[in-house]
Amino acid sequence: MGPLSAPPCTLHITWKELLLTASLLIFWNPPTTAQVRIEAQPTKVSEGKDILLLVHNLPQNVAGYIWYKGQIMDLQYYITAYAIDTEMLIFGPAYSGRETVYSNASLLIQSVNQKDAGSYTVEIIKRGEGTEGVTGHFTLYLETPKPSISSSNLNPREATETVILSCDPDTQDVSYLWWINGQSLPISRKLQLSENNRTLVLFNVTKDTAGPYECEMKNPVSSSRSDPVTLNLLYGPDIPSIFPSRTNYRSGQNLYLYCLTDSNPPAEYTWTINGRFLQSGPRIYIPQITTKHSGLYRCSVRNSATGSECSTFKSIRVSGKWIPASLSTGF
Ligand SMILES: *[C@@H]1O[C@H](CO)[C@@H](O)[C@H](O)[C@H]1NC(C)=O
Ligand SMILES: *[C@@H]1O[C@H](CO)[C@@H](O)[C@H](O)[C@H]1NC(C)=O
Ligand SMILES: *[C@@H]1O[C@H](CO)[C@@H](O)[C@H](O)[C@H]1NC(C)=O
Repeated sequence: MGPLSAPPCTLHITWKELLLTASLLIFWNPPTTAQVRIEAQPTKVSEGKDILLLVHNLPQNVAGYIWYKGQIMDLQYYITAYAIDTEMLIFGPAYSGRETVYSNASLLIQSVNQKDAGSYTVEIIKRGEGTEGVTGHFTLYLETPKPSISSSNLNPREATETVILSCDPDTQDVSYLWWINGQSLPISRKLQLSENNRTLVLFNVTKDTAGPYECEMKNPVSSSRSDPVTLNLLYGPDIPSIFPSRTNYRSGQNLYLYCLTDSNPPAEYTWTINGRFLQSGPRIYIPQITTKHSGLYRCSVRNSATGSECSTFKSIRVSGKWIPASLSTGF
C-alpha cells in the first residue's frame, strides 16, 4: 500500500463534498467502541521532522477513514478523509498541506511544528450495516527542545532588586520545572512562580537566591533541562579591615599594610595618611620608616557598581631607633 496522492481536482474541496461528508457523519451512529490503537512512528519527534500515526486493529469491511485534529468529530476539525472504493481523498478545513492519509488509514504528517501537537481522532467508517463507526484517539507531543533561561537582570544589587527569570521557549502542552542548586525550589515568599511555572520572580535577591538556576521542560514523551544560570550579585563593599594588627614600629623597619573587604565587583582601594592621599590599591609598602611615618592610615573602599563606599583606619606609631646596650657602650 503506497501513499495516495490526491488527484488535483480534489485539492479544492467543494461544498458538495463537504456536505456529503457531513451527511455521512450525521447518519453514522456515534461510535461505541474504540478498539483501534494508534502508534506514533517514531515515538519521539522534534520540530521539522516527519511522523507517521499508524493505525492498528482496523476492523473488517472498512468504507473509509476521516482524520480530525482534536478530540471531537466536527467538520471544522476535519483534516482529510479517504474513501476506499473510489480511492478518493477529501481535504477539510484543518488540512495544512503536510498530511497524507494512506490506504491503511495511517496518517503521515510531514515537517511537524508546534501547532501539530495535540490530539487527533481517526474515525473508521464501516461498510454494510451502514451505521457503525469506530474511532481512535492519539495525542501528539513533540520532543521538548533544550530550554534556556533569560533574566530581566543578570547583575542585580543584593537585597534590593527584583529579578524575573523566564524559561524559553514558551510552549503549549509542556510543564515547566525549576531547580536551584540542583534542588527543587524551596517554599519562600522571596520566590514566586507564574501560573504556568514558566517565569520565576525573585524578590530582593540575596546570596541564597542567586542560583545557580536550571529550568526543565517536560511532556509525556520527553524532558530537557537548561544550562545553569547564576546571577552575578552586586554587593558591598563591607567595612574593610587592615592587616597586620600591629600598631607600634621602630625607625628603620619596613611598613607593610594591606586592606581587605568583600565586594562585587571588587572594590577600589585608596590609602591616605593623616588625610593626605598616599596611594591606590589594597597594599602599601614603605621601607625604612622613620618617626615621620607615624600617623593615621586610612583605607577607603568603593564599589563603582553599587556606588557605596566606606573606610577604616589604623594609628601607626614609629619610635626612634633602638640601639642594643652592648653596641651603644662602644660609642
Ligand atoms: C500503512 O502504510 C504505511 C505507508 O505505506 C506504512 O508505513 C505502514 O507500516 C502501514 N501499516 C500500518 C499498520 O499502518
Ligand atoms: C524587598 O525589600 C523591600 C525594601 O527593603 C521590602 O519593603 C520588601 O518587603 C521586600 N520584599 C520581600 C518579598 O522580601
Ligand atoms: C507549578 O509547580 C508546582 C511545584 O513547584 C506544582 O505543584 C504545580 O502543579 C505546577 N503548576 C503547573 C501549571 O505546572
